[in-house]
Amino acid sequence: MKEVRVGICGLGTVGGGTYNVLTRNAELIAGRAGSPIRISRVASRRRRDDIDLGDIPFSNDIFEITKAEDVDIVVELIGGYDVARELVLTAIENGKHVVTANKALIAVHGNEIFEAAAKRGVIVAYEAGVAGGIPVIKAVREGMAGNRIDWIAGIINGTGNYILTEMRAGRAFDEVLREAQDKGYAEADPTFDVEGIDAAHKLTILASAGFGVPLQFERAYTEGISRITPYDIAHAELLGYRIKHLGIARRRENGIELRVHPTLVPQSHLIAQVDGVLNAVLVDGDAVGQTMYYGPGAGDEATASAVIADIVDVARSVAAESQQRVPYLGFEPSALENLDVLPMEDIQSAYYLRIQALDRPGVLAKVASVLSEHGINIESIMQKESELEEGKIPVIILTHTVQERQINRAIEELEALSDIQEKVVRIRAENFN
Ligand SMILES: NC(=O)c1ccc[n+]([C@@H]2O[C@H](COP(=O)([O-])OP(=O)(O)OC[C@H]3O[C@@H](n4cnc5c(N)ncnc54)[C@H](OP(=O)(O)O)[C@@H]3O)[C@@H](O)[C@H]2O)c1
Repeated sequence: MKEVRVGICGLGTVGGGTYNVLTRNAELIAGRAGSPIRISRVASRRRRDDIDLGDIPFSNDIFEITKAEDVDIVVELIGGYDVARELVLTAIENGKHVVTANKALIAVHGNEIFEAAAKRGVIVAYEAGVAGGIPVIKAVREGMAGNRIDWIAGIINGTGNYILTEMRAGRAFDEVLREAQDKGYAEADPTFDVEGIDAAHKLTILASAGFGVPLQFERAYTEGISRITPYDIAHAELLGYRIKHLGIARRRENGIELRVHPTLVPQSHLIAQVDGVLNAVLVDGDAVGQTMYYGPGAGDEATASAVIADIVDVARSVAAESQQRVPYLGFEPSALENLDVLPMEDIQSAYYLRIQALDRPGVLAKVASVLSEHGINIESIMQKESELEEGKIPVIILTHTVQERQINRAIEELEALSDIQEKVVRIRAENFN
């Protein structure tokens, strides 16, 4: 039984976890892979005192791994765009298979990387990049291979979900963000997490693997959670909804929707129960219906679990001498469809609107009439007499599903009314059907 030799680049959170789990479960993993998996080299900027590498050669130069004769799989766990791209492309050029946890790299440079890998006949696997330990790429690409996937919706950033969960108790965004940073859930610069960029990276990859379209990160619509208030969270709850930060990809006839934004979801839906740092992804297939994948989206050993699943996949393929058991995005390149990402004005959604109106007779009728002129039906409406402040009263509306274009026009008109002197708050809502 030929052993498969792995070179780990980056010995940080995920690199350390991967080293530890591969070492601890070596026998079990070999039994599953059909061949022993040996860590033949490790490279990272610094050695770690808490990890005993034994006699495994260590280097500060990650590029050494891409050239080494005794490495079959380069495991890229350094993160970032430029150096990681160069590292992965060099590894491919040198005929190495690649396993990565780097969603930013795949979302932005994936088309180029897969093309290079296909030319060289090597595997590039990226399960750990999407929802950490949850094997959702394998579920979409292999488990659901018989389905036409119609939509995917997920909580795919644990930091954002933790913040929104804590805000349900009435706490302000800034206070909870500071706490998330203290607990190590959020980075010192939390922009990628709270502004939805990290989620957009993952959604881009999920959409491509689900629908069979090239990666189009630059076309994803991204809206963060920093403007969500405890007030809107509480009023969404009164309407029977919970606010979650979702990545949503939907296949439409003339393109795909690709969007990350705060979303009202029915409290009764399973995804509304996903709290704290946990992740969950809903995938709807025409044959199987709605499925949900739930678990830890980050963490050293949880993410290592997905990295190692990919290593085992590569080992099995190498053993079977089929270089590419599963195509990179689950579809043969010739079968990829050139479906464009639709402009946000063309997406369809229900909407929560909060309108600060002057307390004058007939205001409600005027609001209802503007919505009706734009073909927008109202699902529920609340006027909070008890919250009358400085002559203004909040009107809260949940609409039926309409096109974003209709809502944009209606909001413009509402904001032009003399009875409405503040910007209308708008949050999209999903009923998952
Ligand atoms: N953390 C998670 O839970 C998680 C979950 C899913 C996916 N991921 C992805 O996994 C990847 C790694 O994340 P991480 O959290 O493990 O990051 P991390 O803890 O910062 O580890 C990165 C490691 O790579 C080293 N490194 C970076 N650039 C290098 C270079 N040019 N040369 C040599 N060494 C270099 C770093 O060294 P220094 O520390 O000295 O800079 C560090 O040891 C990222 O793509 C991330 O998005 C992480």
